[in-house]
Amino acid sequence: MTASSTLSIPTVGDVPRHLAIIMDGNGRWATRRYLPRTAGHARGVQSVRRILRACGEAGVQYLTLFAFSSENWRRPQDEVSLLMRLFVQTLEKEVDKLVTQGIRLRIVGDVSAFEPALQSLIAEAEKKTAHNDRLHLTIAANYGGRWDILQATRRLLAKRPELIKQPQEFSEDLLTPHLSMSFAPEPDLFIRTGGEQRISNFLIWQLAYTELYFTETFWPDFDAKHLAKAFEWYRSRERRFGRTSAQTVAAQTDSI
Ligand code: IPE
Ligand code: IPE
Ligand code: MG
Repeated sequence: MTASSTLSIPTVGDVPRHLAIIMDGNGRWATRRYLPRTAGHARGVQSVRRILRACGEAGVQYLTLFAFSSENWRRPQDEVSLLMRLFVQTLEKEVDKLVTQGIRLRIVGDVSAFEPALQSLIAEAEKKTAHNDRLHLTIAANYGGRWDILQATRRLLAKRPELIKQPQEFSEDLLTPHLSMSFAPEPDLFIRTGGEQRISNFLIWQLAYTELYFTETFWPDFDAKHLAKAFEWYRSRERRFGRTSAQTVAAQTDSI
């Protein structure tokens, strides 16, 4: 089990242990170049490779990327199909590299909505990388924060039906092991590229005390230099978790 930011005060380092990213702006990147939106998604895959490498070098242990939201099915059928195809191709091409690089891959989200072929690729990729732990790469696909909280609640109630009659027993400790990110600490840093300043139903539970960084840069343009800038900003934050500034400073001095 990993520490909860609301039940205890997490330890904080100079580099985020867990980085969560909303990779936004692919469509606009392409439209500005008179290209189809799908060209932006293809370029976005290159940014994933770049950022994954940079995170490994910086010592990030968990990288979680929002690839497809539970609301993205609302997009035109062509774009959804292309995104699914890209997902399949990327898994086929990249998984062996992840194995040799010591990267563990997980997919979080309601994968039951995907084509059976994609579901098997996901299962295979997770199995092949299951022994790795140098870096934990998680792709959120058909993921929604509300879905996550609901599915966790359903799983808990299925396991502990007596809780319905004892609602006062229902606690954070009981629920969080059923959330799909239960294997990871809560994100230290959240980045959203593409200029929007919203969460768009990403990790709504887990972002409770995460530092939020927004940049205008479109995802296909986001590179190691942009990431370093976000990390520099992160280092400048005082993470208080509800305490005063004086208490936070005193706690840091005590731990040195
Ligand atoms: C993010 O880029 C990728 C997905 C949502 C799959 P967008 O496709 O949302 O790009 P914009 O926001 O339209 O520019
Ligand atoms: C969020 O981006 C989802 C992903 C990046 C996968 P969207 O582009 O779908 O978000 P909204 O619609 O602008 O809020
Ligand atoms: Mg978008």
